[in-house]
Amino acid sequence: MSDPGSPGRVAIVTGAGSGIGQATTVAFCRAGYDVAAGDVDRSGLEETVRLAEGLPGSVDAVSADVTDSFTVESLTGAALRLGQLQAAVNCAGIVGPTLDLSESDSSRLRDVSDPDWARVIEVNLTGVFNCVRSQMRAMWDTGGAIVNLSSIAGVVGTAGLGPYVASKHGVVGLGKTAALEGAPRGIRVNTICPGTVATPMLMEAFGSDPTQTAARDAATPLGRPGEPEELAEVAVWLCGDSASYITGVSLPVDGGTTSMNPRSGVAGKT
Ligand SMILES: NC(=O)c1ccc[n+]([C@@H]2O[C@H](COP(=O)([O-])OP(=O)(O)OC[C@H]3O[C@@H](n4cnc5c(N)ncnc54)[C@H](O)[C@@H]3O)[C@@H](O)[C@H]2O)c1
Repeated sequence: MSDPGSPGRVAIVTGAGSGIGQATTVAFCRAGYDVAAGDVDRSGLEETVRLAEGLPGSVDAVSADVTDSFTVESLTGAALRLGQLQAAVNCAGIVGPTLDLSESDSSRLRDVSDPDWARVIEVNLTGVFNCVRSQMRAMWDTGGAIVNLSSIAGVVGTAGLGPYVASKHGVVGLGKTAALEGAPRGIRVNTICPGTVATPMLMEAFGSDPTQTAARDAATPLGRPGEPEELAEVAVWLCGDSASYITGVSLPVDGGTTSMNPRSGVAGKT
Protein backbone atom coordinates (compact mmCIF):
# COMPACT_ATOMS: atom_id res chain seq x y z
CA MET A 1 0.00 0.00 0.00
CA SER A 2 1.19 3.48 -0.76
CA ASP A 3 1.67 6.23 1.76
CA PRO A 4 -1.58 8.22 2.22
CA GLY A 5 0.44 11.42 2.16
CA SER A 6 2.37 10.67 -1.00
CA PRO A 7 2.32 13.39 -3.70
CA GLY A 8 0.07 13.01 -6.73
CA ARG A 9 -3.09 12.25 -4.80
CA VAL A 10 -6.27 14.16 -5.61
CA ALA A 11 -9.19 15.00 -3.34
CA ILE A 12 -12.50 16.85 -3.53
CA VAL A 13 -13.80 18.87 -0.59
CA THR A 14 -17.22 20.57 -0.56
CA GLY A 15 -18.05 23.38 1.82
CA ALA A 16 -14.35 24.17 1.49
CA GLY A 17 -14.73 27.90 2.16
CA SER A 18 -15.36 27.69 5.89
CA GLY A 19 -15.11 25.63 9.06
CA ILE A 20 -14.54 21.89 8.77
CA GLY A 21 -14.33 21.91 4.95
CA GLN A 22 -11.71 24.65 4.99
CA ALA A 23 -9.65 22.84 7.63
CA THR A 24 -9.99 19.57 5.69
CA THR A 25 -8.77 21.20 2.48
CA VAL A 26 -5.71 22.55 4.29
CA ALA A 27 -5.07 19.17 5.97
CA PHE A 28 -5.23 17.40 2.59
CA CYS A 29 -2.76 19.93 1.14
CA ARG A 30 -0.46 19.41 4.11
CA ALA A 31 -0.58 15.66 3.36
CA GLY A 32 0.36 16.28 -0.29
CA TYR A 33 -3.04 16.01 -1.97
CA ASP A 34 -4.11 18.38 -4.73
CA VAL A 35 -7.63 19.47 -3.85
CA ALA A 36 -10.60 20.54 -5.96
CA ALA A 37 -12.29 22.74 -3.37
CA GLY A 38 -15.95 23.63 -3.91
CA ASP A 39 -18.23 26.12 -2.20
CA VAL A 40 -20.87 28.73 -3.00
CA ASP A 41 -18.86 31.27 -0.99
CA ARG A 42 -16.18 32.65 -3.31
CA SER A 43 -14.48 34.80 -0.67
CA GLY A 44 -14.33 31.83 1.70
CA LEU A 45 -12.63 29.81 -1.04
CA GLU A 46 -10.09 32.60 -1.59
CA GLU A 47 -9.25 32.46 2.12
CA THR A 48 -8.81 28.69 1.85
CA VAL A 49 -6.40 29.15 -1.06
CA ARG A 50 -4.39 31.62 1.07
CA LEU A 51 -4.31 29.23 4.03
CA ALA A 52 -2.91 26.45 1.84
CA GLU A 53 -0.15 28.55 0.31
CA GLY A 54 3.26 26.97 0.70
CA LEU A 55 1.90 23.51 1.54
CA PRO A 56 2.91 20.46 -0.55
CA GLY A 57 -0.53 20.13 -2.18
CA SER A 58 -2.49 22.71 -4.20
CA VAL A 59 -6.05 24.08 -4.13
CA ASP A 60 -8.19 24.51 -7.24
CA ALA A 61 -11.09 26.68 -6.03
CA VAL A 62 -14.35 25.93 -7.84
CA SER A 63 -17.66 27.76 -7.39
CA ALA A 64 -19.95 24.80 -6.87
CA ASP A 65 -23.43 24.56 -5.39
CA VAL A 66 -24.05 21.02 -4.14
CA THR A 67 -27.77 21.34 -4.88
CA ASP A 68 -26.98 21.75 -8.59
CA SER A 69 -25.83 18.46 -10.10
CA PHE A 70 -24.25 20.28 -13.06
CA THR A 71 -21.90 22.30 -10.87
CA VAL A 72 -21.18 19.18 -8.82
CA GLU A 73 -20.10 17.49 -12.07
CA SER A 74 -17.88 20.52 -12.79
CA LEU A 75 -16.22 20.08 -9.42
CA THR A 76 -15.59 16.40 -10.10
CA GLY A 77 -14.28 17.33 -13.56
CA ALA A 78 -11.87 19.83 -12.00
CA ALA A 79 -10.59 17.10 -9.69
CA LEU A 80 -10.10 14.65 -12.58
CA ARG A 81 -8.05 17.28 -14.43
CA LEU A 82 -5.69 17.30 -11.42
CA GLY A 83 -5.24 13.51 -11.61
CA GLN A 84 -6.88 10.33 -10.36
CA LEU A 85 -9.53 11.06 -7.74
CA GLN A 86 -8.77 9.18 -4.54
CA ALA A 87 -10.66 11.00 -1.83
CA ALA A 88 -13.72 13.17 -1.31
CA VAL A 89 -15.04 14.83 1.84
CA ASN A 90 -18.53 16.29 1.60
CA CYS A 91 -18.87 19.07 4.18
CA ALA A 92 -21.28 21.56 2.59
CA GLY A 93 -24.27 22.06 4.83
CA ILE A 94 -26.65 24.51 6.44
CA VAL A 95 -28.45 24.57 9.78
CA GLY A 96 -31.79 25.90 8.59
CA PRO A 97 -34.34 27.15 11.09
CA THR A 98 -33.12 26.78 14.67
CA LEU A 99 -34.94 26.85 17.94
CA ASP A 100 -35.41 30.47 18.87
CA LEU A 101 -34.87 30.32 22.59
CA SER A 102 -36.81 33.52 23.17
CA GLU A 103 -39.83 32.24 21.22
CA SER A 104 -39.80 28.57 21.99
CA ASP A 105 -42.26 27.46 19.31
CA SER A 106 -40.79 29.17 16.27
CA SER A 107 -38.96 26.22 14.76
CA ARG A 108 -40.59 23.17 16.22
CA LEU A 109 -41.74 20.67 13.61
CA ARG A 110 -45.34 21.81 13.84
CA ASP A 111 -44.28 25.30 12.70
CA VAL A 112 -41.58 24.54 10.11
CA SER A 113 -42.46 26.12 6.75
CA ASP A 114 -42.45 24.21 3.46
CA PRO A 115 -39.54 26.28 2.04
CA ASP A 116 -37.42 25.85 5.19
CA TRP A 117 -37.95 22.09 5.15
CA ALA A 118 -37.22 21.80 1.43
CA ARG A 119 -34.08 23.94 1.56
CA VAL A 120 -32.42 22.01 4.40
CA ILE A 121 -33.16 18.64 2.78
CA GLU A 122 -31.99 20.00 -0.59
CA VAL A 123 -28.60 21.19 0.68
CA ASN A 124 -27.82 18.65 3.39
CA LEU A 125 -29.24 15.45 1.89
CA THR A 126 -29.79 15.92 -1.85
CA GLY A 127 -26.49 17.85 -1.94
CA VAL A 128 -24.61 14.90 -0.42
CA PHE A 129 -26.41 12.54 -2.81
CA ASN A 130 -25.38 14.65 -5.83
CA CYS A 131 -21.77 14.59 -4.67
CA VAL A 132 -21.61 10.90 -3.74
CA ARG A 133 -23.19 9.89 -7.05
CA SER A 134 -20.71 11.94 -9.06
CA GLN A 135 -17.73 10.86 -6.96
CA MET A 136 -18.64 7.15 -7.12
CA ARG A 137 -18.90 7.37 -10.90
CA ALA A 138 -15.44 8.97 -11.01
CA MET A 139 -13.99 6.30 -8.69
CA TRP A 140 -15.82 3.31 -10.19
CA ASP A 141 -12.83 1.84 -12.06
CA THR A 142 -10.10 2.98 -9.69
CA GLY A 143 -11.50 2.81 -6.15
CA GLY A 144 -11.27 5.59 -3.62
CA ALA A 145 -12.66 6.86 -0.35
CA ILE A 146 -15.58 9.18 0.41
CA VAL A 147 -16.42 10.79 3.75
CA ASN A 148 -19.72 12.55 4.37
CA LEU A 149 -20.36 14.97 7.21
CA SER A 150 -23.46 14.10 9.20
CA SER A 151 -23.79 15.14 12.86
CA ILE A 152 -24.72 13.79 16.25
CA ALA A 153 -28.07 15.09 14.99
CA GLY A 154 -27.80 12.18 12.55
CA VAL A 155 -28.01 9.64 15.37
CA VAL A 156 -30.18 11.31 18.02
CA GLY A 157 -33.08 13.77 17.85
CA THR A 158 -32.76 17.43 18.76
CA ALA A 159 -35.84 19.53 19.60
CA GLY A 160 -36.02 22.65 17.44
CA LEU A 161 -33.78 21.29 14.68
CA GLY A 162 -36.24 18.99 12.90
CA PRO A 163 -35.25 19.51 9.25
CA TYR A 164 -31.54 19.41 10.11
CA VAL A 165 -31.96 16.21 12.16
CA ALA A 166 -33.95 14.53 9.38
CA SER A 167 -31.37 15.52 6.76
CA LYS A 168 -28.45 14.28 8.87
CA HIS A 169 -30.15 10.93 9.62
CA GLY A 170 -30.56 10.64 5.84
CA VAL A 171 -26.85 11.20 5.31
CA VAL A 172 -26.07 8.28 7.64
CA GLY A 173 -28.36 5.93 5.69
CA LEU A 174 -27.07 7.14 2.34
CA GLY A 175 -23.51 6.51 3.47
CA LYS A 176 -24.21 2.95 4.58
CA THR A 177 -25.83 2.10 1.24
CA ALA A 178 -23.06 3.78 -0.75
CA ALA A 179 -20.56 1.72 1.26
CA LEU A 180 -22.31 -1.52 0.28
CA GLU A 181 -22.54 -0.58 -3.39
CA GLY A 182 -18.99 0.78 -3.50
CA ALA A 183 -17.25 -2.09 -1.71
CA PRO A 184 -16.96 -4.41 -4.75
CA ARG A 185 -15.31 -1.53 -6.64
CA GLY A 186 -12.83 -0.66 -3.88
CA ILE A 187 -14.75 2.49 -2.91
CA ARG A 188 -14.99 3.04 0.85
CA VAL A 189 -17.70 5.37 2.18
CA ASN A 190 -17.79 6.55 5.78
CA THR A 191 -19.69 9.16 7.76
CA ILE A 192 -18.42 11.50 10.47
CA CYS A 193 -20.90 12.63 13.12
CA PRO A 194 -19.44 15.71 14.81
CA GLY A 195 -20.73 17.13 18.06
CA THR A 196 -20.29 20.87 18.52
CA VAL A 197 -17.40 22.24 16.50
CA ALA A 198 -16.15 25.84 16.76
CA THR A 199 -17.16 27.09 13.29
CA PRO A 200 -19.43 29.83 11.92
CA MET A 201 -22.23 27.25 11.75
CA LEU A 202 -22.10 26.69 15.50
CA MET A 203 -22.43 30.43 16.07
CA GLU A 204 -25.36 30.56 13.66
CA ALA A 205 -27.11 27.67 15.37
CA PHE A 206 -26.59 28.60 19.00
CA GLY A 207 -25.10 32.10 19.19
CA SER A 208 -22.43 33.11 21.68
CA ASP A 209 -24.51 33.57 24.81
CA PRO A 210 -22.10 32.61 27.66
CA THR A 211 -24.77 30.74 29.65
CA GLN A 212 -25.70 28.60 26.65
CA THR A 213 -22.04 28.02 25.80
CA ALA A 214 -21.28 26.91 29.36
CA ALA A 215 -24.28 24.57 29.36
CA ARG A 216 -23.17 23.04 26.07
CA ASP A 217 -19.63 22.53 27.28
CA ALA A 218 -20.93 20.98 30.52
CA ALA A 219 -22.91 18.48 28.44
CA THR A 220 -19.75 17.46 26.56
CA PRO A 221 -17.57 14.96 28.44
CA LEU A 222 -14.39 16.59 27.09
CA GLY A 223 -15.79 19.94 28.27
CA ARG A 224 -15.29 21.99 25.11
CA PRO A 225 -16.29 22.19 21.44
CA GLY A 226 -14.11 20.47 18.87
CA GLU A 227 -11.82 22.49 16.64
CA PRO A 228 -12.33 22.20 12.85
CA GLU A 229 -8.78 20.85 12.54
CA GLU A 230 -9.66 17.94 14.85
CA LEU A 231 -12.43 16.93 12.45
CA ALA A 232 -10.21 17.48 9.42
CA GLU A 233 -7.57 15.08 10.74
CA VAL A 234 -10.20 12.34 11.10
CA ALA A 235 -11.56 12.96 7.60
CA VAL A 236 -8.12 12.77 5.97
CA TRP A 237 -7.25 9.68 7.98
CA LEU A 238 -10.51 7.94 6.95
CA CYS A 239 -9.61 8.65 3.30
CA GLY A 240 -6.10 7.23 3.60
CA ASP A 241 -4.68 3.73 3.42
CA SER A 242 -4.38 3.55 7.22
CA ALA A 243 -8.18 3.19 7.23
CA SER A 244 -8.24 0.65 4.39
CA TYR A 245 -10.53 -1.84 6.21
CA ILE A 246 -13.06 0.76 7.39
CA THR A 247 -16.24 1.30 5.40
CA GLY A 248 -19.87 1.94 6.23
CA VAL A 249 -19.21 3.38 9.67
CA SER A 250 -20.80 6.45 11.22
CA LEU A 251 -18.11 7.73 13.53
CA PRO A 252 -19.01 10.14 16.32
CA VAL A 253 -16.31 12.79 16.78
CA ASP A 254 -18.11 14.57 19.55
CA GLY A 255 -16.01 14.78 22.70
CA GLY A 256 -17.98 11.85 24.12
CA THR A 257 -21.41 13.49 23.89
CA THR A 258 -23.31 10.54 22.41
CA SER A 259 -21.66 8.12 24.84
CA MET A 260 -23.05 9.92 27.84
CA ASN A 261 -26.10 8.93 29.81
CA PRO A 262 -27.52 12.34 30.74
CA ARG A 263 -28.79 10.90 34.03
CA SER A 264 -25.28 10.08 35.19
CA GLY A 265 -23.67 13.20 33.68
CA VAL A 266 -19.97 13.80 33.25
CA ALA A 267 -17.68 12.25 35.90
CA GLY A 268 -16.56 14.87 38.39
CA LYS A 269 -19.08 17.44 37.15
CA THR A 270 -22.25 16.16 38.83
N1 LIG B 1 -20.04 23.08 13.44
C1 LIG B 1 -20.70 22.12 14.06
O1 LIG B 1 -20.91 22.21 15.29
C2 LIG B 1 -21.18 20.89 13.31
C3 LIG B 1 -21.73 19.86 14.07
C4 LIG B 1 -22.20 18.73 13.44
C5 LIG B 1 -22.12 18.62 12.06
N2 LIG B 1 -21.60 19.64 11.33
C6 LIG B 1 -21.59 19.47 9.88
O2 LIG B 1 -20.29 19.66 9.37
C7 LIG B 1 -20.37 20.23 8.06
C8 LIG B 1 -19.51 21.46 7.99
O3 LIG B 1 -20.04 22.41 8.91
P1 LIG B 1 -19.22 23.67 9.45
O4 LIG B 1 -19.45 23.75 10.88
O5 LIG B 1 -17.86 23.64 8.91
O6 LIG B 1 -20.10 24.83 8.77
P2 LIG B 1 -19.69 26.21 8.09
O7 LIG B 1 -20.95 27.00 8.05
O8 LIG B 1 -18.49 26.79 8.73
O9 LIG B 1 -19.29 25.75 6.61
C9 LIG B 1 -20.25 25.22 5.72
C10 LIG B 1 -19.84 25.60 4.31
O10 LIG B 1 -20.77 25.01 3.41
C11 LIG B 1 -21.00 25.96 2.37
N3 LIG B 1 -22.28 25.71 1.72
C12 LIG B 1 -23.52 25.94 2.20
N4 LIG B 1 -24.44 25.62 1.28
C13 LIG B 1 -23.76 25.18 0.19
C14 LIG B 1 -24.15 24.72 -1.09
N5 LIG B 1 -25.44 24.65 -1.44
N6 LIG B 1 -23.19 24.32 -1.95
C15 LIG B 1 -21.88 24.40 -1.62
N7 LIG B 1 -21.44 24.86 -0.44
C16 LIG B 1 -22.39 25.24 0.45
C17 LIG B 1 -21.00 27.31 3.08
O11 LIG B 1 -20.80 28.38 2.16
C18 LIG B 1 -19.85 27.12 4.06
O12 LIG B 1 -18.63 27.54 3.49
C19 LIG B 1 -21.85 20.50 7.79
O13 LIG B 1 -22.39 19.47 7.00
C20 LIG B 1 -22.45 20.50 9.17
O14 LIG B 1 -23.82 20.14 9.15
C21 LIG B 1 -21.13 20.77 11.92
